[in-house]
Amino acid sequence: MTAFRLCNPTQILFGADQLKELESLVPAGTKVLILYGGGSIKKNGIYDQVVAGLKHCSVVEFGGIEANPVYETILKAAELARASGTELILAVGGGSVADAGKFLASIVPIEGVDPWDYLVQGGVSTTTLPVGVVLTLPATGSESNPVSVISNKGKGLKLPFANEKARPQFAILDPDFMKSLDRRQLENGAVDAFTHVIEQYLTLPVNAPVQFGFSETLLKVLIEWGPKLVETGSTEARENVMWAANQALNGLIGAGVPQDWSTHMIGHAITALYDIDHARTLTLVMPALMRFKAVDKQDMLVRYARNVWGITEADPAKAAELAIARTEAFFREMGCPVRFSEIAPTKVVAEDIVHHLEVAGHTALGERQDIGIKQVRDILAMAA
Ligand code: NZQ
Ligand code: ZN
Repeated sequence: MTAFRLCNPTQILFGADQLKELESLVPAGTKVLILYGGGSIKKNGIYDQVVAGLKHCSVVEFGGIEANPVYETILKAAELARASGTELILAVGGGSVADAGKFLASIVPIEGVDPWDYLVQGGVSTTTLPVGVVLTLPATGSESNPVSVISNKGKGLKLPFANEKARPQFAILDPDFMKSLDRRQLENGAVDAFTHVIEQYLTLPVNAPVQFGFSETLLKVLIEWGPKLVETGSTEARENVMWAANQALNGLIGAGVPQDWSTHMIGHAITALYDIDHARTLTLVMPALMRFKAVDKQDMLVRYARNVWGITEADPAKAAELAIARTEAFFREMGCPVRFSEIAPTKVVAEDIVHHLEVAGHTALGERQDIGIKQVRDILAMAA
């Protein structure tokens, strides 16, 4: 295990009716900017509940945050935040709105320089506005992690930014808010969370029984309850997937262990270029990446085969391949594509993806930093 520092200050309020606590979470008189997406919260009643919970505050709102939030839109929200003297950003939505809220909190204090260039170069805003999240789609873990993934339309890039100070102060997770999600978003959410665990787990067999053991539990929960969520939408399924998705990417299972975010970095490029849902870019890439790295990752693939899938095959290479095949079957069961041929007529051009990775500086990926441009080309060919 490598040394790590872990501080997750996000207060989680999980369960039915927790939105009622908003009134006690936000001090009276606070200038709040409510940030939301394309309008789902107005249709399902969450918007009205939020406004009622903030009646003791001074509120402005900014709607229209896109799925895969766009930098240029967030700049407009920053103008409103500055003009209104915003003291707290309340993001109400899925990962896109939460990401936008955290990014907004980071850029409002940055003036006089281009925030994108400043943050890409590793700058961190010295002061960050506080953020709260009302989560309506469990998937990303964004509600209690420091990351925002932002699309810059002008530059044609989708990049991750991390700012520890932007971790939300509080996050309200009411599984009832998932009732208005359509099947596709439920599939996406469970699958995205699954891949988050894999990216922090399927690396090297270091000494990390706590992290790996919890990862295996999360994977098994998502394998069992993801399909049940899609088929039944039961209370138990909503609760289990919502909590697992949060735990999958709140920093805990990734503490002190090697990580491999190559599927995500390739996936972000695919979304930037072809506007494919985040989760579906991951299911397109991950099985091919597992096969491409089956020898290097064999120890963990065998552990994954035995502890997650119950595979008893004695030969390590065969056990690894069986586990990859089961992963692929799970993605298919969750309605997601696992080959580029399945997303026709969209035609994915490897060189365009490679170009995005080069511009983004993502050319030494994986737990060994040995997935470069050539390897990405090979992985994409295997996913054809
Ligand atoms: O825009 P609205 O109207 O809210 O509709 C959204 C959107 O169309 C809708 N939706 C959300 N909650 C709903 C609902 N519809 C009905 N009922 C509800 N309760 O669902 C659509 C997708 O929402 P979005 O927020 O885009 O989905 P998700 O939570 O999957 O977030 C995806 C974004 O998060 C980034 C992705 O790259 C992508 O941009 N990620 C962020 C991460 C992080 N911060 O750590 C890590 C992830 O790997 C990921 O990269
Ligand atoms: Zn993801």
